[in-house]
Amino acid sequence: MDKNLKLPAHIAIIMDGNGRWAKKRNMPRVFGHKQGAKSVRSITTACAELGLKYLTLYAFSTENWKRPKQEVGFLMDLLSDFLDKETKTLMKNNVRLMTIGEIDKMDPKVHKKLISVKKQTSKNTGLTLILALNYGSKRELTLAMRAIAAGVLGKKIKVSDIDEELISKGLFTAGIPDPDLLIRTSGEMRISNFLLWQIAYSEIYVTDVLWPDFGKNDLFRALEEFSARERRYGGIQAK
Ligand code: IPE
Ligand code: IPE
Ligand code: MG
Repeated sequence: MDKNLKLPAHIAIIMDGNGRWAKKRNMPRVFGHKQGAKSVRSITTACAELGLKYLTLYAFSTENWKRPKQEVGFLMDLLSDFLDKETKTLMKNNVRLMTIGEIDKMDPKVHKKLISVKKQTSKNTGLTLILALNYGSKRELTLAMRAIAAGVLGKKIKVSDIDEELISKGLFTAGIPDPDLLIRTSGEMRISNFLLWQIAYSEIYVTDVLWPDFGKNDLFRALEEFSARERRYGGIQAK
């Protein structure tokens, strides 16, 4: 990869295509999730090595509860396993773990592990890895609106205090800069309830590569394309 590339500070990824990856091999869907976890490992390490500040991975949406119980159970076990096995590597690579989403409504054992790994890695100063778990952007905005409404009723917030900054502070992503680059694998051209507010000006990159096949070189390709984009934010081309 070219050393002069303009790198994003924050990449968000909709990791999609695990089921199709397995289906192509006549394997059960869960086999695809297992392979997908390997991509999580390699992409997290690559982002840490590149010196990126934030990587947000969409791992489980509020809509994913609709899947068969067995698949949901497998995903939870996989997460639990990931936390057990990867904490050492996160520490070694100076990675801080954070989450967005209602993790307190997940399996109590998984919830406990998440709290513990987040605490253990909280002083790390390299990459911040943010796992979106039981995350839905509409739910996030709903909770933020409720909190603001309660603040207004309790006379802690004036209606005129409500601005973009206050709304951002009420989201799970409070304090985290918006993603510069949003990647979706497996070719689907949709957002699927991910970071609706935060991606207002993110650059979008969709690749047909399925998540279990997404490796370092695919990441570099996305970064090269990002570097060549001109971000105008509604302004005009810089001279
Ligand atoms: C993404 O892969 C993983 C999760 C949503 C947890 P999918 O399981 O959605 O795979 P496809 O889209 O069915 O191929
Ligand atoms: C989005 O993928 C959610 C995650 C990657 C966790 P889905 O596979 O759930 O999204 P849809 O159903 O194709 O929109
Ligand atoms: Mg999918």
